[in-house]
Amino acid sequence: MRIAGKEYRTIWYEDDVVKIIDQTKLPHNFIIKDLETVDHAVNAIKSMEVRGAPLIGATAAYGIALAIKENNDLKFIKKSSEKLVNARPTAINLQWAVHRMNNKLSFIKSEELLDIALKEAEEICNEDINFCENIGLEGLKIIEKIYKQKKNTVNILTHCNAGWLATINWGTATSPIYHAHKNGIPVHIWVDETRPRNQGANLTSYELNEEGIPNTIITDNTGGILMQRGEVDMCIVGTDRTLSTGDVCNKIGTYLKALAAHDNNVPFYVALPSSTIDWETKDYKKIPIEERNSDELSHIEGKDDKNNIKKVLIYPEKSKSMNLAFDITPAKYVTGLITEKGVCEASANGLKQMFKR
Ligand code: MRU
Repeated sequence: MRIAGKEYRTIWYEDDVVKIIDQTKLPHNFIIKDLETVDHAVNAIKSMEVRGAPLIGATAAYGIALAIKENNDLKFIKKSSEKLVNARPTAINLQWAVHRMNNKLSFIKSEELLDIALKEAEEICNEDINFCENIGLEGLKIIEKIYKQKKNTVNILTHCNAGWLATINWGTATSPIYHAHKNGIPVHIWVDETRPRNQGANLTSYELNEEGIPNTIITDNTGGILMQRGEVDMCIVGTDRTLSTGDVCNKIGTYLKALAAHDNNVPFYVALPSSTIDWETKDYKKIPIEERNSDELSHIEGKDDKNNIKKVLIYPEKSKSMNLAFDITPAKYVTGLITEKGVCEASANGLKQMFKR
Protein backbone atom coordinates (compact mmCIF):
# COMPACT_ATOMS: atom_id res chain seq x y z
CA MET A 1 0.00 0.00 0.00
CA ARG A 2 1.02 3.64 -0.23
CA ILE A 3 2.95 6.06 1.91
CA ALA A 4 3.21 9.54 0.43
CA GLY A 5 1.97 8.06 -2.85
CA LYS A 6 4.71 5.40 -3.07
CA GLU A 7 3.95 1.66 -2.87
CA TYR A 8 5.67 -0.25 -0.06
CA ARG A 9 5.70 -3.63 1.59
CA THR A 10 6.49 -3.76 5.30
CA ILE A 11 9.52 -6.02 4.89
CA TRP A 12 11.83 -6.94 2.03
CA TYR A 13 15.38 -8.16 1.30
CA GLU A 14 17.66 -5.82 -0.59
CA ASP A 15 21.44 -5.31 -0.83
CA ASP A 16 22.07 -8.30 1.44
CA VAL A 17 20.03 -6.90 4.34
CA VAL A 18 16.44 -7.14 5.52
CA LYS A 19 14.62 -3.80 5.28
CA ILE A 20 11.75 -2.85 7.58
CA ILE A 21 9.66 0.25 8.24
CA ASP A 22 10.43 1.22 11.86
CA GLN A 23 6.89 1.39 13.29
CA THR A 24 8.02 2.90 16.61
CA LYS A 25 8.75 6.12 14.69
CA LEU A 26 5.34 6.40 13.00
CA PRO A 27 3.30 8.50 12.45
CA HIS A 28 5.70 11.45 12.79
CA ASN A 29 8.75 9.96 11.05
CA PHE A 30 9.00 7.43 8.24
CA ILE A 31 12.25 5.53 8.66
CA ILE A 32 13.44 2.42 6.83
CA LYS A 33 15.75 0.35 8.97
CA ASP A 34 18.25 -2.39 8.06
CA LEU A 35 18.34 -5.70 9.92
CA GLU A 36 21.73 -7.35 9.41
CA THR A 37 21.86 -10.02 12.10
CA VAL A 38 19.45 -12.40 13.79
CA ASP A 39 19.74 -10.30 16.97
CA HIS A 40 18.60 -7.26 15.00
CA ALA A 41 15.53 -9.26 13.95
CA VAL A 42 14.85 -10.43 17.53
CA ASN A 43 15.18 -6.85 18.84
CA ALA A 44 12.96 -5.44 16.10
CA ILE A 45 10.22 -7.89 17.17
CA LYS A 46 10.71 -7.29 20.92
CA SER A 47 10.80 -3.50 20.65
CA MET A 48 7.85 -3.55 18.21
CA GLU A 49 9.69 -1.84 15.37
CA VAL A 50 7.81 -4.57 13.56
CA ARG A 51 4.57 -5.83 15.08
CA GLY A 52 1.30 -7.48 14.11
CA ALA A 53 1.08 -11.27 13.98
CA PRO A 54 1.78 -11.89 10.26
CA LEU A 55 4.63 -9.37 10.12
CA ILE A 56 6.46 -10.71 13.16
CA GLY A 57 6.17 -14.18 11.59
CA ALA A 58 7.74 -12.90 8.37
CA THR A 59 10.49 -11.10 10.33
CA ALA A 60 11.29 -14.32 12.19
CA ALA A 61 11.53 -16.16 8.84
CA TYR A 62 14.02 -13.58 7.55
CA GLY A 63 15.72 -13.79 10.98
CA ILE A 64 16.56 -17.44 10.28
CA ALA A 65 18.11 -16.42 6.95
CA LEU A 66 20.16 -13.74 8.73
CA ALA A 67 21.33 -16.34 11.27
CA ILE A 68 22.53 -18.62 8.46
CA LYS A 69 24.32 -15.70 6.83
CA GLU A 70 26.08 -14.87 10.11
CA ASN A 71 27.09 -18.37 11.10
CA ASN A 72 26.05 -21.37 9.01
CA ASP A 73 26.21 -23.77 11.91
CA LEU A 74 23.37 -26.03 13.10
CA LYS A 75 23.77 -25.18 16.80
CA PHE A 76 23.71 -21.45 16.08
CA ILE A 77 20.64 -21.79 13.85
CA LYS A 78 18.83 -23.78 16.56
CA LYS A 79 19.67 -21.22 19.26
CA SER A 80 18.59 -18.41 16.93
CA SER A 81 15.29 -20.19 16.23
CA GLU A 82 14.59 -20.35 19.97
CA LYS A 83 15.39 -16.65 20.42
CA LEU A 84 13.03 -15.74 17.57
CA VAL A 85 10.16 -17.89 18.86
CA ASN A 86 10.54 -16.38 22.34
CA ALA A 87 10.75 -12.76 21.19
CA ARG A 88 7.00 -12.31 21.83
CA PRO A 89 4.77 -14.97 23.38
CA THR A 90 1.20 -14.47 22.19
CA ALA A 91 1.03 -14.43 18.39
CA ILE A 92 1.30 -17.99 17.06
CA ASN A 93 2.89 -16.76 13.82
CA LEU A 94 6.39 -16.67 15.33
CA GLN A 95 6.32 -20.41 16.09
CA TRP A 96 4.56 -21.11 12.80
CA ALA A 97 7.14 -19.27 10.69
CA VAL A 98 10.20 -20.65 12.50
CA HIS A 99 8.83 -24.20 12.25
CA ARG A 100 8.10 -23.77 8.57
CA MET A 101 11.62 -22.44 7.92
CA ASN A 102 13.30 -25.26 9.86
CA ASN A 103 11.19 -27.91 8.11
CA LYS A 104 12.12 -26.48 4.75
CA LEU A 105 15.82 -26.34 5.66
CA SER A 106 16.20 -29.84 7.07
CA PHE A 107 18.14 -32.15 4.72
CA ILE A 108 19.42 -29.19 2.65
CA LYS A 109 23.17 -29.05 1.93
CA SER A 110 24.92 -26.44 4.04
CA GLU A 111 26.10 -24.39 1.03
CA GLU A 112 22.51 -24.08 -0.24
CA LEU A 113 20.92 -23.14 3.10
CA LEU A 114 21.05 -19.35 2.76
CA ASP A 115 19.59 -19.33 -0.72
CA ILE A 116 16.70 -21.63 0.22
CA ALA A 117 16.05 -19.75 3.47
CA LEU A 118 15.78 -16.42 1.65
CA LYS A 119 13.45 -17.96 -0.94
CA GLU A 120 11.22 -19.47 1.77
CA ALA A 121 11.04 -16.19 3.72
CA GLU A 122 10.04 -14.44 0.48
CA GLU A 123 7.47 -17.18 -0.16
CA ILE A 124 5.98 -16.65 3.33
CA CYS A 125 5.63 -12.94 2.50
CA ASN A 126 4.08 -13.55 -0.92
CA GLU A 127 1.67 -16.09 0.52
CA ASP A 128 0.61 -13.62 3.23
CA ILE A 129 -0.08 -10.98 0.58
CA ASN A 130 -2.29 -13.43 -1.36
CA PHE A 131 -4.09 -14.52 1.79
CA CYS A 132 -4.73 -10.92 2.85
CA GLU A 133 -5.98 -10.04 -0.62
CA ASN A 134 -8.45 -12.96 -0.48
CA ILE A 135 -9.56 -11.88 3.01
CA GLY A 136 -10.29 -8.50 1.44
CA LEU A 137 -12.39 -9.99 -1.35
CA GLU A 138 -14.34 -12.15 1.12
CA GLY A 139 -14.89 -9.25 3.54
CA LEU A 140 -15.92 -7.01 0.65
CA LYS A 141 -19.00 -9.20 0.09
CA ILE A 142 -20.13 -8.49 3.69
CA ILE A 143 -19.60 -4.74 3.33
CA GLU A 144 -21.40 -4.76 -0.05
CA LYS A 145 -24.41 -6.44 1.56
CA ILE A 146 -24.61 -3.83 4.32
CA TYR A 147 -24.24 -1.03 1.75
CA LYS A 148 -27.03 -2.43 -0.43
CA GLN A 149 -29.41 -2.40 2.54
CA LYS A 150 -28.27 0.90 4.02
CA LYS A 151 -27.63 2.81 0.78
CA ASN A 152 -25.34 5.09 2.74
CA THR A 153 -21.78 5.23 4.13
CA VAL A 154 -20.84 2.02 5.94
CA ASN A 155 -19.35 2.77 9.38
CA ILE A 156 -16.81 0.17 10.46
CA LEU A 157 -15.09 0.04 13.84
CA THR A 158 -11.63 -1.49 14.18
CA HIS A 159 -9.26 -2.01 17.10
CA CYS A 160 -5.46 -1.82 17.22
CA ASN A 161 -3.70 -2.10 13.87
CA ALA A 162 -4.59 -5.12 11.80
CA GLY A 163 -3.74 -3.04 8.76
CA TRP A 164 -1.15 -3.51 6.05
CA LEU A 165 1.52 -2.35 8.51
CA ALA A 166 0.75 -5.45 10.61
CA THR A 167 1.08 -7.79 7.63
CA ILE A 168 3.14 -7.56 4.44
CA ASN A 169 0.50 -5.75 2.42
CA TRP A 170 -3.32 -5.15 2.48
CA GLY A 171 -3.73 -6.05 6.18
CA THR A 172 -6.34 -8.41 7.55
CA ALA A 173 -9.07 -6.24 9.12
CA THR A 174 -8.28 -3.39 6.70
CA SER A 175 -8.21 -5.47 3.52
CA PRO A 176 -12.05 -5.60 3.19
CA ILE A 177 -12.03 -1.82 3.84
CA TYR A 178 -9.43 -1.15 1.13
CA HIS A 179 -11.33 -3.39 -1.29
CA ALA A 180 -14.64 -1.65 -0.50
CA HIS A 181 -13.03 1.76 -1.08
CA LYS A 182 -11.52 0.60 -4.40
CA ASN A 183 -14.97 -0.66 -5.44
CA GLY A 184 -16.58 2.71 -4.80
CA ILE A 185 -18.44 1.80 -1.59
CA PRO A 186 -18.39 4.78 0.79
CA VAL A 187 -16.84 3.68 4.09
CA HIS A 188 -15.93 5.53 7.25
CA ILE A 189 -13.77 3.93 9.90
CA TRP A 190 -13.98 4.40 13.67
CA VAL A 191 -10.39 3.84 14.79
CA ASP A 192 -9.92 2.79 18.42
CA GLU A 193 -6.89 4.66 19.73
CA THR A 194 -5.68 1.40 21.38
CA ARG A 195 -3.88 2.36 24.55
CA PRO A 196 -1.20 2.06 25.65
CA ARG A 197 0.86 1.96 22.45
CA ASN A 198 -1.79 3.65 20.34
CA GLN A 199 -1.45 1.38 17.31
CA GLY A 200 -4.93 2.50 16.19
CA ALA A 201 -4.14 6.20 16.25
CA ASN A 202 -0.48 5.98 15.21
CA LEU A 203 -0.71 3.25 12.59
CA THR A 204 -4.29 2.48 11.48
CA SER A 205 -5.39 6.07 11.12
CA TYR A 206 -2.04 6.90 9.47
CA GLU A 207 -2.30 4.14 6.85
CA LEU A 208 -5.98 4.89 6.14
CA ASN A 209 -5.10 8.58 5.64
CA GLU A 210 -2.37 7.60 3.15
CA GLU A 211 -5.00 5.64 1.16
CA GLY A 212 -7.55 8.46 1.39
CA ILE A 213 -10.06 6.54 3.54
CA PRO A 214 -12.21 8.67 5.86
CA ASN A 215 -11.57 7.75 9.48
CA THR A 216 -12.04 9.14 12.96
CA ILE A 217 -9.91 8.25 15.99
CA ILE A 218 -11.91 7.54 19.15
CA THR A 219 -10.80 6.60 22.66
CA ASP A 220 -11.03 2.92 23.46
CA ASN A 221 -14.12 3.60 25.59
CA THR A 222 -16.20 5.34 22.93
CA GLY A 223 -17.26 2.36 20.76
CA GLY A 224 -20.05 1.33 23.17
CA ILE A 225 -22.03 4.54 22.94
CA LEU A 226 -21.51 4.72 19.17
CA MET A 227 -23.02 1.24 18.87
CA GLN A 228 -25.97 2.23 21.09
CA ARG A 229 -26.57 5.21 18.81
CA GLY A 230 -26.53 3.02 15.68
CA GLU A 231 -23.36 4.64 14.39
CA VAL A 232 -21.42 1.40 13.89
CA ASP A 233 -22.58 -0.98 11.11
CA MET A 234 -19.95 -3.63 11.76
CA CYS A 235 -16.69 -4.28 13.60
CA ILE A 236 -13.68 -5.95 11.98
CA VAL A 237 -10.60 -6.77 14.05
CA GLY A 238 -7.50 -8.91 13.59
CA THR A 239 -6.13 -11.71 15.75
CA ASP A 240 -2.81 -12.90 17.11
CA ARG A 241 -4.00 -16.42 17.74
CA THR A 242 -7.27 -18.09 16.83
CA LEU A 243 -7.95 -21.38 18.55
CA SER A 244 -9.47 -24.30 16.67
CA THR A 245 -12.51 -23.70 18.91
CA GLY A 246 -13.05 -20.28 17.29
CA ASP A 247 -11.94 -18.30 20.38
CA VAL A 248 -9.88 -15.31 19.37
CA CYS A 249 -6.92 -13.71 21.12
CA ASN A 250 -6.25 -10.13 20.04
CA LYS A 251 -5.07 -6.77 21.36
CA ILE A 252 -6.29 -5.88 24.85
CA GLY A 253 -9.74 -4.29 24.66
CA THR A 254 -11.02 -6.43 21.79
CA TYR A 255 -13.14 -8.50 24.18
CA LEU A 256 -14.95 -5.44 25.59
CA LYS A 257 -15.71 -4.26 22.06
CA ALA A 258 -17.14 -7.69 21.20
CA LEU A 259 -19.38 -7.55 24.30
CA ALA A 260 -20.68 -4.12 23.32
CA ALA A 261 -21.26 -5.33 19.75
CA HIS A 262 -23.16 -8.38 21.01
CA ASP A 263 -25.37 -6.23 23.27
CA ASN A 264 -26.20 -3.93 20.34
CA ASN A 265 -26.60 -6.54 17.57
CA VAL A 266 -23.63 -5.13 15.68
CA PRO A 267 -21.88 -7.83 13.57
CA PHE A 268 -18.41 -8.52 14.96
CA TYR A 269 -16.00 -10.09 12.45
CA VAL A 270 -12.43 -11.29 12.91
CA ALA A 271 -10.15 -11.33 9.86
CA LEU A 272 -7.24 -13.77 9.77
CA PRO A 273 -4.87 -15.69 7.54
CA SER A 274 -4.63 -19.39 8.45
CA SER A 275 -1.05 -18.83 9.71
CA THR A 276 -2.71 -17.33 12.80
CA ILE A 277 -4.64 -20.48 13.72
CA ASP A 278 -3.40 -22.49 16.67
CA TRP A 279 -4.70 -26.01 15.95
CA GLU A 280 -3.20 -27.49 19.13
CA THR A 281 -4.35 -25.37 22.09
CA LYS A 282 -7.96 -26.08 23.01
CA ASP A 283 -8.34 -24.02 26.19
CA TYR A 284 -8.01 -20.28 25.79
CA LYS A 285 -6.70 -19.98 29.35
CA LYS A 286 -3.53 -21.74 28.11
CA ILE A 287 -2.67 -18.94 25.65
CA PRO A 288 0.37 -17.07 26.98
CA ILE A 289 -0.72 -13.44 27.42
CA GLU A 290 2.14 -11.03 26.98
CA GLU A 291 2.67 -8.60 29.85
CA ARG A 292 4.71 -5.64 28.70
CA ASN A 293 6.66 -3.03 30.60
CA SER A 294 4.40 -0.72 32.61
CA ASP A 295 6.41 2.25 31.26
CA GLU A 296 4.24 1.92 28.15
CA LEU A 297 1.30 3.01 30.32
CA SER A 298 2.95 5.61 32.50
CA HIS A 299 4.81 7.42 29.71
CA ILE A 300 3.57 8.86 26.47
CA GLU A 301 5.47 10.06 23.41
CA GLY A 302 4.46 12.83 21.04
CA LYS A 303 5.55 15.86 19.07
CA ASP A 304 5.79 19.26 20.76
CA ASP A 305 5.11 22.67 19.19
CA LYS A 306 8.68 22.84 17.93
CA ASN A 307 8.39 19.45 16.20
CA ASN A 308 10.60 17.71 18.76
CA ILE A 309 9.59 14.17 19.71
CA LYS A 310 9.31 13.97 23.52
CA LYS A 311 8.41 11.27 26.00
CA VAL A 312 6.72 12.37 29.20
CA LEU A 313 5.50 10.77 32.43
CA ILE A 314 1.71 11.02 32.79
CA TYR A 315 1.11 9.01 35.99
CA PRO A 316 1.85 9.82 39.63
CA GLU A 317 5.47 8.79 40.23
CA LYS A 318 4.54 6.39 43.03
CA SER A 319 1.69 4.60 41.21
CA LYS A 320 1.91 1.00 40.11
CA SER A 321 0.46 0.00 36.75
CA MET A 322 -0.11 -3.23 34.83
CA ASN A 323 0.19 -3.74 31.10
CA LEU A 324 -1.44 -6.88 29.70
CA ALA A 325 -1.18 -6.74 25.92
CA PHE A 326 -3.90 -9.17 24.75
CA ASP A 327 -7.29 -10.57 25.73
CA ILE A 328 -9.57 -13.32 24.55
CA THR A 329 -12.91 -12.97 22.81
CA PRO A 330 -14.90 -16.18 23.18
CA ALA A 331 -16.21 -17.60 19.90
CA LYS A 332 -19.84 -16.97 20.92
CA TYR A 333 -19.31 -13.22 20.43
CA VAL A 334 -17.76 -13.56 16.96
CA THR A 335 -20.19 -13.28 14.03
CA GLY A 336 -17.75 -14.86 11.59
CA LEU A 337 -14.10 -15.47 10.77
CA ILE A 338 -12.99 -13.91 7.48
CA THR A 339 -10.21 -16.14 6.18
CA GLU A 340 -8.35 -16.49 2.89
CA LYS A 341 -10.65 -19.41 2.03
CA GLY A 342 -13.94 -17.72 2.86
CA VAL A 343 -16.04 -16.67 5.82
CA CYS A 344 -16.76 -19.36 8.40
CA GLU A 345 -18.47 -19.71 11.73
CA ALA A 346 -16.18 -19.12 14.73
CA SER A 347 -16.42 -22.71 15.97
CA ALA A 348 -14.53 -25.99 15.84
CA ASN A 349 -16.89 -27.17 13.12
CA GLY A 350 -16.70 -23.94 11.12
CA LEU A 351 -12.89 -24.01 11.07
CA LYS A 352 -12.74 -27.74 10.40
CA GLN A 353 -15.05 -27.42 7.41
CA MET A 354 -13.19 -24.43 6.03
CA PHE A 355 -9.73 -25.97 6.35
CA LYS A 356 -10.75 -29.64 5.99
CA ARG A 357 -8.80 -30.72 9.06
O1 MRU B 1 0.99 -5.78 19.98
P1 MRU B 1 0.73 -5.73 18.50
O2 MRU B 1 0.71 -4.35 17.94
O3 MRU B 1 1.66 -6.64 17.74
O4 MRU B 1 -0.74 -6.32 18.37
C1 MRU B 1 -1.28 -6.46 17.09
C2 MRU B 1 -2.67 -6.93 17.09
O5 MRU B 1 -3.27 -7.17 18.11
C3 MRU B 1 -3.29 -7.19 15.74
O6 MRU B 1 -4.67 -7.00 15.80
C4 MRU B 1 -3.01 -8.63 15.33
O7 MRU B 1 -1.65 -8.91 15.39
C5 MRU B 1 -3.52 -8.92 13.98
S1 MRU B 1 -2.47 -8.23 12.75
C6 MRU B 1 -3.10 -8.51 11.22
